Amino acid sequence: MNQPQLILGTAMWGWTCPKEQCFELLDTFYQEGFREVDAATNYPLNGNTDQFRLSENILKEWIDTHGVRDLKVMIKVGSLTNVRTPENNLTKSFLLMMLDEYRFLFGESLDTYMIHWDNRDNKTEIQESLEAMQIAAEHGLRIGLSGIKHPKIYQALNQDFGFDFRIQIKHNLLQSAYAHYAPFHGQTRFITYGINAGGIKLDISEYHEQSSLKARGGNVEAEAPIVAKLRPIIAQANKRTDRPQITNFNHCGMTYAFHSPDISGILLGTSRTTQLQQSITFYRLLKQGMYFDFYDQLKDLA
Ligand SMILES: NC(=O)c1ccc[n+]([C@@H]2O[C@H](COP(=O)([O-])OP(=O)(O)OC[C@H]3O[C@@H](n4cnc5c(N)ncnc54)[C@H](OP(=O)(O)O)[C@@H]3O)[C@@H](O)[C@H]2O)c1
Repeated sequence: MNQPQLILGTAMWGWTCPKEQCFELLDTFYQEGFREVDAATNYPLNGNTDQFRLSENILKEWIDTHGVRDLKVMIKVGSLTNVRTPENNLTKSFLLMMLDEYRFLFGESLDTYMIHWDNRDNKTEIQESLEAMQIAAEHGLRIGLSGIKHPKIYQALNQDFGFDFRIQIKHNLLQSAYAHYAPFHGQTRFITYGINAGGIKLDISEYHEQSSLKARGGNVEAEAPIVAKLRPIIAQANKRTDRPQITNFNHCGMTYAFHSPDISGILLGTSRTTQLQQSITFYRLLKQGMYFDFYDQLKDLA
């Protein structure tokens, strides 16, 4: 059975996560044996235009500083700004220009080239984007999709290309884009993000000054409504004494993502090394199948 891989996310790098902390996260992730990192042209998505592409610069600096050659960088392209608007360019020429740029920047570490946010329904335009992705594939890259408004069009056009798309979806206990991608169901190709719904905590005392939920405009003063529904499920799961207890929202999000259908990857948005270590430890328990009963309960809640 294919089990989801862990992928380190970078959306908050240079925003709530200063460079030194990003370096520590990558050091830990790498030392623990993981290799895949997710990036995007528009990270950090904080509306500060001076910081456009800062996150990928931090990533590149870490790679260059350590002389590491076996990282696998997934890059999402198309965005023209890091302001939260869908302003992007998915023309063939732009995608090819960015392909050159990222091959130059990341060299052999570049692994996956992904279209980011496509609201178009024009088949000719999408066809041209896929022609650019074909060239990326010829360079040995895996091809991906994220934020696609019309997956059916992609699926129909893909009859000619035959891409085995990797697809990033928001997928957590509150919302999921999985159903939206029905044309691509049935194969293990989905990568989940937002598994903590942007940084929800079980206990509001866990929120801190740099909480990502706060930075994203979420309410950290009151308990998220889902927490009250989770409590009895967690209490039930914690009756078992043959495994570590479920103690935080991240355990819930990871369990739900890990056992959901067609999931090949889980994007970690951890902002501190202690969180990352904890997520890795819990991931290894999930791999042993320790929390399947808990997943069943979470599935009903979701
Ligand atoms: N394709 C797309 O359009 C898209 C969109 C969004 C994200 N992404 C990718 O997915 C990655 C993750 O997304 P996300 O940031 O939205 O994920 P998330 O998992 O929903 O939220 C991350 C936040 O959850 C909290 N957290 C994570 N692990 C924890 C742990 N072990 N213990 C306690 N708290 C924990 C942290 O909050 P605090 O920092 O407040 O402690 C962290 O900043 C991004 O970095 C990015 O690479 C892709």
